[in-house]
Amino acid sequence: MISPLGKGFKVLEKGKKAICIGGGIGTPPMLAIAKEYGENATVISGFRNSAIAILQDDFKAQGNNTILCTDDGSAGKKGFVTDALKECLLNEKPDIIYACGPNVMLKAVAEIARDNGIYCQVSLEERMGCGVGACLVCACKTVKDGEEYFAHVCKDGPVFSAEEVIF
Ligand code: FES
Repeated sequence: MISPLGKGFKVLEKGKKAICIGGGIGTPPMLAIAKEYGENATVISGFRNSAIAILQDDFKAQGNNTILCTDDGSAGKKGFVTDALKECLLNEKPDIIYACGPNVMLKAVAEIARDNGIYCQVSLEERMGCGVGACLVCACKTVKDGEEYFAHVCKDGPVFSAEEVIF
């Protein structure tokens, strides 16, 4: 077994504040990083409805503030995680934003972070083949120092600085 694959989220020093955003199955990867920040982390999770909303008690148990969003309003706030994020930023800006979820969500989160001047890391969920950088199944377009290149999510990620990813 080869694990864990690739690079994970960068943890800032103690006392820094984070917003962790998980969309659907992108929510479980937020548990470990949110734990690092305890009460200094706000976790925004989004699900289609209450029946599939998970882990809210686990986040609370590790001291995190939680904001639950559902598409149909059957639990928490009705709406997208990006709406909740914008609302949070009106009150306080965190030192970092972490996100994992569908690409359209990551793209929107990355734009909000950029517009607010907040460093953001995203964890990309791509199909994996070999897992070691040989098959190109997980290629994703990125930019570094003004040059576009295809990164391997398995080897170079799955976590990237949001500004590096071309969504
Ligand atoms: S999974 Fe094969 S190159 Fe990434």
